[in-house]
Amino acid sequence: MRAAILDKSGAIENVRIGEIEPPKVTDGTMLVRVCAASVNPADLKVIRGKDGGGFLHSKNFPAAIGFDFSGVVEQVGANVRGRSVGDEVFGHLAYSPSTKQGSFAELVAVKPDTVGVKPPAVRHEDAAAAATVGCTALQGLRDRGRLKSGQTVLVNGASGGVGSYAVQIALALGADVVGTASAAKARFVESLGVKEVIDYRETPLSSVNETFDILFDAASISSFGEAKRLLNRGGAYVTLLPSPSLIGGMFLSLFSSKRCGFVTVQSRAADLEQVASWIVSGALETSVEETFPLSDIHTALSALDSGRVRGKLAVRIGE
Ligand SMILES: NC(=O)c1ccc[n+]([C@@H]2O[C@H](COP(=O)([O-])OP(=O)(O)OC[C@H]3O[C@@H](n4cnc5c(N)ncnc54)[C@H](OP(=O)(O)O)[C@@H]3O)[C@@H](O)[C@H]2O)c1
Repeated sequence: MRAAILDKSGAIENVRIGEIEPPKVTDGTMLVRVCAASVNPADLKVIRGKDGGGFLHSKNFPAAIGFDFSGVVEQVGANVRGRSVGDEVFGHLAYSPSTKQGSFAELVAVKPDTVGVKPPAVRHEDAAAAATVGCTALQGLRDRGRLKSGQTVLVNGASGGVGSYAVQIALALGADVVGTASAAKARFVESLGVKEVIDYRETPLSSVNETFDILFDAASISSFGEAKRLLNRGGAYVTLLPSPSLIGGMFLSLFSSKRCGFVTVQSRAADLEQVASWIVSGALETSVEETFPLSDIHTALSALDSGRVRGKLAVRIGE
């Protein structure tokens, strides 16, 4: 099959478009013909073999890379129930050292409970773009943050993939939301429905004077120690990257009324379908800034790497 293949870790230039063996279907998995994918910072970490890239994908290259996908079920294993050939589904491959396949490819093999049904009204590009970031934001706010309607949320890094979804999902769950962003992306964050945008260069978190029920750090650059004074009693700090300060924060939170949590995103059918239903109802704008053909994967990865993207970039697989 045609795929974006990483020959060895290092640089975006090490990715080439070529032919690779398709993944094999087992009794418990199904083969999905990928129509669209989307790029994530995790792809850059895998390509560079840095920042934990080795924990996100097998280091056994050459291999196809990419995590998010949306497509059509092409073959089902003997033990697969509840999914049929022709179903339109979306999700993301596991962020795991055991993942040997990639979604910048014509086919992926997945377990049925790791994909959601894509509603016909949602384009493949939008579904693929929403998979990782939608699940991360939902699992972070609902499961780690225990967000309740009427609470207040600060999303740090509200202009990025996870952040732009976290803003909208917090709003959909009934919260009042404030977001931080660079000045160039303030308008975009405003358009998502926040009450206020804080320019993080002018007003770093250490100078913010409000308090919140949840600080969702999509940029994952703060610590529980810094976040504590911004949290109301019973409030939660949620981050996306493991770090020594996270372990310290989790220990500190044992002696505090405030919680410190970490998300490891899981591709789950129910969560994906919740995200899709918000897209259909208009509560969630997928923020796909641009869609690239697979042959332009380098441009898509470089654009994400440049830091100029507002929201998400999608990749079209197949012509
Ligand atoms: N643990 C998990 O399961 C999980 C899941 C998904 C993602 N992640 C990780 O989460 C991180 C974010 O992912 P993403 O897809 O949202 O990335 P992204 O689309 O590249 O967005 C990054 C965001 O960080 C913001 N930012 C950069 N420096 C900042 C600062 N000093 N203060 C506040 N915000 C700042 C950027 O804002 P401006 O562009 O406005 O400067 C941008 O909004 C990545 O490291 C990713 O690997 C983890």
